[in-house]
Amino acid sequence: MDFTQLAQARHSANNFDPDMHITERQLKVIFDTVKLAPSAFNLQPATFQVVMNDQQKKDALQRASGGQYKVGAASAVVVVTTNTEAYKETARLNAGAVMLGIMSEQELDDMVATTAHYYEDQGQAFQQFDAVRNASLFAMQFMLAAKNEGWDTCPVSYDDAIVRETLQLAPTEQVVFMLVLGKEKTTHPRMRGYRKPFSEMVKIY
Ligand SMILES: Cc1cc2nc3c(=O)[nH]c(=O)nc-3n(C[C@H](O)[C@H](O)[C@H](O)COP(=O)(O)O)c2cc1C
Repeated sequence: MDFTQLAQARHSANNFDPDMHITERQLKVIFDTVKLAPSAFNLQPATFQVVMNDQQKKDALQRASGGQYKVGAASAVVVVTTNTEAYKETARLNAGAVMLGIMSEQELDDMVATTAHYYEDQGQAFQQFDAVRNASLFAMQFMLAAKNEGWDTCPVSYDDAIVRETLQLAPTEQVVFMLVLGKEKTTHPRMRGYRKPFSEMVKIY
């Protein structure tokens, strides 16, 4: 599939085949593409919590979705969370570059100081906003990468407190998306919804 075909083929699936299972190996192929998504300072704040084997957790997440049938029928429920303090990972994430001689110790120290100032000076609300926008790019990349591997997805709304409790999230982890993944039964595909025209969506100056 070229990119346009892929973007056209991805849609929010409704009706998953409950007998389809995804393997860890298949997930790894998808995530090899997901990890290429961009993020500010390359901080990669998104984590994907994939619930597919633990029926109790899957049931709880279905409850969190308001009981949507598709959550129970999907092969996996994928909760995308984001680390609102990802800037504190700067040293760890760039240690490899220092080891390889791509970056000096001094450059790493400067980078740690720069990211700390950037986020701490702008405060908690900005840190949360930035964490969410970065993780959203990973979530979109996930839906496209999954489709490219023959899997269908749908974002689903959720009760934040139930998701947090089910996955025992740390206070610094914020839930950004809950997605379901599976193979859509092609008998009743969901119709593509209305899209705003170019003239309404795009302003050219
Ligand atoms: C944040 C978010 C929450 C959504 N919640 C639900 C949901 O709870 N149930 C559902 O069936 N679809 C849900 N959707 C899917 C949207 O309805 C869908 O993306 C939109 O109608 C456009 O259709 P398409 O994805 O097929 O292009 C959600 C989408 C987003 C981005």
